[in-house]
Amino acid sequence: MDTILVTGGTGYIGSHTVVELIEEGFPVVIADNLSNSDLAVLDGIEKITGVRPAFEEIDICDAGKLARLFDTGREIGAIIHFAAFKAVGESVEKPLMYYRNNMVSLMNLLEEMKAGKSANLVFSSSCTVYGQPDTLPVTESAPFKKAASPYGKTKQMSEEIIADVIFANPSLNAISLRYFNPIGAHPSGLIGEVPAGMPDNLVPFITQTAIGLRGELKVFGDDYNTPDGSCIRDYLHVADLAKAHVAAVRRLLDRQNREAMEAFNLGTGKGVSVLEMIKTFEKVNKIKINYSITGRRPGDIEQVWADTSLANRELGWSARSSLEETLESAWKWEKYYRNHNK
Ligand code: UD1
Repeated sequence: MDTILVTGGTGYIGSHTVVELIEEGFPVVIADNLSNSDLAVLDGIEKITGVRPAFEEIDICDAGKLARLFDTGREIGAIIHFAAFKAVGESVEKPLMYYRNNMVSLMNLLEEMKAGKSANLVFSSSCTVYGQPDTLPVTESAPFKKAASPYGKTKQMSEEIIADVIFANPSLNAISLRYFNPIGAHPSGLIGEVPAGMPDNLVPFITQTAIGLRGELKVFGDDYNTPDGSCIRDYLHVADLAKAHVAAVRRLLDRQNREAMEAFNLGTGKGVSVLEMIKTFEKVNKIKINYSITGRRPGDIEQVWADTSLANRELGWSARSSLEETLESAWKWEKYYRNHNK
């Protein structure tokens, strides 16, 4: 089996993807600088799969170190590139840090690919590339609207750069996966999301409020043009999302020499409001969330959910878990993590 290089493989989506790759028999090498993750993640992966993946602590913005990683004699069948900064608000405050980190790392990887070190790339993209789409559900052919943050722009620019490089180098292939809102944790409860400091995202904020780490969840706006007034997103289980990466790797390995980068939406195809999320969490986990309504969060879009028919058809993938199971897994992980990190 071809070895898969996973940048950012100790992160939230990366670690779940490493589990799925190992379970499908792929040898994995993780490259991560641990800037937003912990080596203990490797223990969780090993407990789940029985295999401890190879790990290289490097910052892939360092071109010299990245070149040495490729020169260790391993054949890299494909690269899955997760390593990037992802906090929307922080990117507004520190745009240069975001542009440098997210763009330099990608260009370093593309240079190595161009030099023949690997022919295949799976890129971690986001529905943020669409902005607020004109029609819902959004399909892959929807135009990129102006991104609301430097973070969003790095995803748009990354896709454009990859597409240009693939076009200019016909032996290289790439798939961009546009995630909607990944939530939850591995059903074992042994790996999951660990936000650094105050969480930006809804579900970690819900679980941290439930466990008593935060006093109150603030719902950002109930005056949107949606049935209950709160924003609508397409929340999918991170373990389902991880499986799509294996499907994308197989597609690249099986059919080399594509001419253009492909992009796929990954979501459930169903929109759920913030208030519905809170109610469902309370119901399945039998716990009350202390919350109040506050003003809109700048940069939030009103509603978005995915048309996933292309991924269903071409990758043979769909999100299988119910919202209930997903929110149960998020709570299981929060309890496990707090119990083991007191
Ligand atoms: C956004 C991007 C996503 C990106 C992610 C990274 C869009 C559509 N999505 O996700 O691509 O990867 O940021 O962080 O641009 N909410 C509250 N209270 C909270 C937190 C969130 O009410 O304390 C609400 C938000 O207003 C939003 C929903 O919950 O309506 C989801 O928010 P969040 O989890 O932060 O994800 P997005 O902003 O959708």
